[in-house]
Amino acid sequence: MTRALISQGPLPGQDPLPPVDMSTRLGDLELPSPVVTASGTAAAGRELDQFFDITSIGAVVTKSVMLQPRSGRPTPRMAETPSGMLNSIGLQGPGIDHFIEHDLTWLSERGARTIVSIAGGTVDEFSKLAARLRTVRGVAAIEVNISCPNVENRGLVFACETGSASDVVQAVKRHSDPRMPIFAKLSPDVTDIVSIAQAVVRAGATGVSVINTLLGMVINTDTMRPHLAGTTGGLSGPAIRPVAVRCVWDIRQAFPDLPIIGMGGIRNGNDALEFILAGANAVAAGTVIFHDPSSPMRIHNELQRALAGHGFSRLQDAIGYAHRPADPEPEPDDDFDFITE
Ligand SMILES: Cc1cc2nc3c(=O)[nH]c(=O)nc-3n(C[C@H](O)[C@H](O)[C@H](O)COP(=O)(O)O)c2cc1C
Repeated sequence: MTRALISQGPLPGQDPLPPVDMSTRLGDLELPSPVVTASGTAAAGRELDQFFDITSIGAVVTKSVMLQPRSGRPTPRMAETPSGMLNSIGLQGPGIDHFIEHDLTWLSERGARTIVSIAGGTVDEFSKLAARLRTVRGVAAIEVNISCPNVENRGLVFACETGSASDVVQAVKRHSDPRMPIFAKLSPDVTDIVSIAQAVVRAGATGVSVINTLLGMVINTDTMRPHLAGTTGGLSGPAIRPVAVRCVWDIRQAFPDLPIIGMGGIRNGNDALEFILAGANAVAAGTVIFHDPSSPMRIHNELQRALAGHGFSRLQDAIGYAHRPADPEPEPDDDFDFITE
């Protein structure tokens, strides 16, 4: 590994970082930084560790792992879109046993805080994944990717129905260590995301991760067929940021104290600040990692500068700041009381 590539803190020639307490809490889970990786965009952190010290960010959220190895969808699996990208990877992965033996062990030895994302096609698969993770060390939290088709219910995505979303979270909760923080990863492809958040919270979720990709499609105008072999794919990147910010905002309005990990099109510290102000306790870097593998560290540093620039000495004071009551109208100046038109 080329350790020389590793960057941490301000880059050479940059001003030192202003003193801001960047720690954040997600329920009982305390993180030194609010920046984490978005599932599926950083594998298990090994490649990123060549570019920056992965123990210095909040946590590595690993690619959603399933019970069995899976080769995913046929190619093409990616398409560029204006201000974003479409992917239809289809949850390619090595299966939980290989993941634990190779990736989780490595992350644990490296000292990274690890949030393990799990995915399944049935409630029973989610239960088995949770039970398997209960037997191992090095898991800081579980993220439950409920944006998968429920094979027992006409392939309807778990995250799009309150009942199925709640069934999955309840099952994961039942099979996990009672102290294990559980985050439900929500889909924006619903009419009322707050009702889904309500269902997963009632089912025992510690918090929510918002948002997963939006379902989209590209037609290749040369072949005059869908570009992706899987026909549709998940839209990510800056194009979805306003949708994601709105989802975080709505959930924070409904749940003043719920831990929220916000994501969707974050490219820099200012984008991250938008999510924090909307109510996110932590933020994830996703698609941006593909063209800037150092971005989680860079976004942390930029966010720290942006917070200091607004006069915050603690990240925690900025969480949900955009929800504060509007400033009162300024009192009319007495000197002008006599002026008439
Ligand atoms: C190539 C790719 C693979 C992804 N795989 C997963 C996954 O395995 N599990 C998951 O919960 N989300 C997955 N996502 C969604 C991201 O974690 C994130 O929610 C979404 O991309 C929005 O953030 P972004 O716009 O910053 O990428 C994936 C996204 C991309 C682009």
